[in-house]
Amino acid sequence: MPRRGNKLYEGKAKIVYETEDPHKLILHFKDTVSAFDGLKKERLRGKGSLNNTISSLLFEILESRGVKTHYIQKISDNEMLVWRAERFPVEVVVRNVSAGSILKRLGLKEGERFKKPLVEFFYKNDELHDPLICAEHIEALGLAPVHAVPLMKETALRVNEILGELFAKQGILLVDFKLEFGRLPDGSVGVVDEISPDSMRLWDSRTGEKLDKDRFRYDLGDLLEGYREVLKRLS
Ligand code: TMP
Ligand code: ASP
Repeated sequence: MPRRGNKLYEGKAKIVYETEDPHKLILHFKDTVSAFDGLKKERLRGKGSLNNTISSLLFEILESRGVKTHYIQKISDNEMLVWRAERFPVEVVVRNVSAGSILKRLGLKEGERFKKPLVEFFYKNDELHDPLICAEHIEALGLAPVHAVPLMKETALRVNEILGELFAKQGILLVDFKLEFGRLPDGSVGVVDEISPDSMRLWDSRTGEKLDKDRFRYDLGDLLEGYREVLKRLS
């Protein structure tokens, strides 16, 4: 069993530890939830375990469908073993239905399906509040290798197909989600970070009930109840 070494980094929702293997890290999912760049925060017992379990499950499904990720295995309630990656400071968002930040930016109404899935890039930078960028910015600023840009877009769309179908079967609409990418130890580019209701919008297909972090962002109901419902339907 891999054991925790030095703490490498602590973020708002996770802690990253080294292990005895320089190519492997442990992600510890914390019981905290934050929104609006950390302006709103709360500790919710059991949230870390739910996100670790949901993320592990989704990474396993993606891996089984040939998507490269940093996932190795779930090693405890709150911990996941992953390949150490050189993370690109880019967030890749795929949107199927209008919601969230795009509403104000483009003057849209919530809940409209896009003619085709929309891929957006954001520069991961808290001080700048993660501004929207385009592929050319990534290349010109060297935020990721040039060959990684089309690959991130194709992978994000593939993930959208796989997860969209998976959730649809469970009566959940995959509205949008965010992925991060990095260079894995074997040199390939893969999905890193987490894939959980913290980083996705999931609506009940029948009732429209929001089952994701928007419950916390906008005080729509008990967060954990939503996450438990997502896990229940996936298992
Ligand atoms: P947005 O509508 O706020 O731009 O969010 C798009 C998707 O990205 C949504 O599913 C939530 C997710 N997301 C994150 O994972 N981290 C973030 O910091 C933000 C702002 C959004
Ligand atoms: N994850 C970000 C934060 O913790 C923003 C968000 O998801 O709304 O502040």
